[in-house]
This record gives sequence, C-alpha cells and structure tokens, in this order.
Amino acid sequence: MTAKAIELVAFGPEHLKGALALSQQAGWPHRIEDWQTALALSTGFAAVSRPGNDVIGTVLLTSYRDDAASISMVLVAKAMRGRGLGRKLMEAALALAGNRPLRLVATDDGLPLYQKLNFERTGVIAQHQGIARSSPLPAAIRPIMPAEIPTAIELDRVAFGADRADLISHLAKIGSFAVLDRAGAPAGFAVLRPFGRGEVIGPVVTKDVGDAKALIAHVLASCAGRFVRIDTDITTGLGPWLIDQGLDHVGGGVAMRRPVVARSAAPFTTFALANQALG
Ligand SMILES: CC(C)(COP(=O)(O)OP(=O)(O)OC[C@H]1O[C@@H](n2cnc3c(N)ncnc32)[C@H](O)[C@@H]1OP(=O)(O)O)[C@@H](O)C(=O)NCCC(=O)NCCS
Repeated sequence: MTAKAIELVAFGPEHLKGALALSQQAGWPHRIEDWQTALALSTGFAAVSRPGNDVIGTVLLTSYRDDAASISMVLVAKAMRGRGLGRKLMEAALALAGNRPLRLVATDDGLPLYQKLNFERTGVIAQHQGIARSSPLPAAIRPIMPAEIPTAIELDRVAFGADRADLISHLAKIGSFAVLDRAGAPAGFAVLRPFGRGEVIGPVVTKDVGDAKALIAHVLASCAGRFVRIDTDITTGLGPWLIDQGLDHVGGGVAMRRPVVARSAAPFTTFALANQALG
C-alpha cells in the first residue's frame, strides 16, 4: 500500500466497526458501546485506506471546555505500524486541540511517540481488576439524587483541574453514582458503569484515601460476583488495598501531559480514573 492511498478523515459512526477491530487487534477490552461513549464525548480522526475505506488508524480528542483535553484511542493496524501513521494521527489531534493543555495515558507502544511530541511523564497508572467481593466499610453512602449531579461536576472539576461537565453528565446516563453523605450533602462520589469485560469503577473523587476506600467498597458490594476494573494513579496509595479486595494489579500506563502545568494542592482528589482514555 502506498502513502497516497491513506487519508485522514473526521471520525464518524461509520468508522466504529473498523475502530473496534483495531482495538481488539491491540488486545484492548473495549466493546462497540465503549467506542460509542468515547465518540459521543470526543472528536477525532480515522485513517482510512483507499479504495475500500478500511479503518487502519484512529485518534480521539476529548475536550474539557478550554481547560484541558485528553488524547486517546491512538491505534494503528499492526501491518501499517512503523511508517509514520501514528505520528500523523497525533499531529492531527494536536492541531484539533489548539491551546488546550493535553493529557493522555501511554502504553509501552505509545510512549516513544509521545515523548518525541514533547509529552512529559507525570504519573503511573495502575490497572486493577478481578471479581468484586462484598465487604462494605461503615460510611454513609447512598445513590446520588439528580439535583446533585452539578455538585459531582464541581467536585470532579476541583480534583481533575478541568471542567468535565459533559463527561459526568454522560456517565449519569449510563452508570450509577454512589455519594458519600456528610450532613446531607455529597462529600465524594464513585461511578460504576459497564465497560470492556465487565464494569469499571471511576471516577472516584473524594477528600482522602479512607473515604475513597469506603466508596469503592460500597460499589464493590453492589456488584459482588461480577468482573470489575479500576484504574488509579499509584500515588493514591490504593494499590495494596485493592489487591486485598481481590482486584489484582494487571498492568497500567504512564500518565503524560503537554505542557506540565503546576497546580496548587486541591481539596479533592481523583482516586480512580473514568478510564485510561478519559482520565
Ligand atoms: C503506538 C502506535 C499507534 C504507533 O503507531 P506507528 O504508526 O507505528 O507510529 P509511527 O510509525 O508514526 O512512529 C512514531 C514514532 O515513534 C518512534 N518509535 C516507535 N517505537 C519506538 C521505540 N521502541 N523506540 C524509540 N522510538 C520509537 C518512531 O521511530 C517514530 O518516530 P519519528 O516520527 O520521529 O520517526 C502503534 O504502535 C499502535 O497502534 N500500538 C498499539 C496500540 C497502542 O498501544 N497505542 C498507544 C495508546 S497510548
């Protein structure tokens, strides 16, 4: 195939099936519904080969207003790797992002490309998964009330450092929110939603690791016996406890930013990611 036969086009619903095949080829667990969620929240590009319009590469950009954006679903078909297509897709996403500070979680495959594009390491993300067990910790945890979604958006904004109103509102449609109740108001929340091989817990946003454990234990009890996954920055200190809950450390990635912007300490922390794509 010659370079001339490859074109980058706006990613649309017509590319979902081909994109799913690429993520499966890379061993990723995404279902078509997970790609649909990603696309509902993002814009991006598909690299298609002509004629035939086969999808041979993808990239998505999820913008959080003008505050930040996440780059994800960077995939090139195995047979087409090492020919500059990954870089081309990334450069298209960078142009789309404009001046927004960028974040991503890199795989080993992606790391060299991102380093060449001036992304810097800012953390290590650990992926834990297994069969959920029921051992809830004592805490006042209840389902969220619809009128409290704006509070969840605000807690997430403070913790994440960017306004993810669209993401949180979308998760409210496809997942369930548990909130930690302090004097009748949410002091933290955790989301459970279908993803990949089972379900994912995240984001988990609260003040301290004790509250995060209480929220996660509550959610695990609600899905006991089912396959569940959670992605957390290793500095949260949740790792050993997650392993004790039966959620093995099975892999992860490197959190990267471009540029690295200094932030003052925030009163809320993101203890678990929405997923590696969305941060
Ligand atoms: C990551 C991926 C998209 C890269 O696609 P690709 O088309 O092979 O990438 P490119 O050919 O554009 O190469 C990108 C750059 O990384 C460099 N690179 C790749 N592997 C490298 C390595 N092991 N060491 C140093 N540099 C490396 C290339 O030399 C190239 O640099 P250049 O543009 O300055 O020449 C592809 O490997 C892939 O789909 N992997 C599986 C899915 C995945 O892990 N995606 C990343 C998600 S975060």
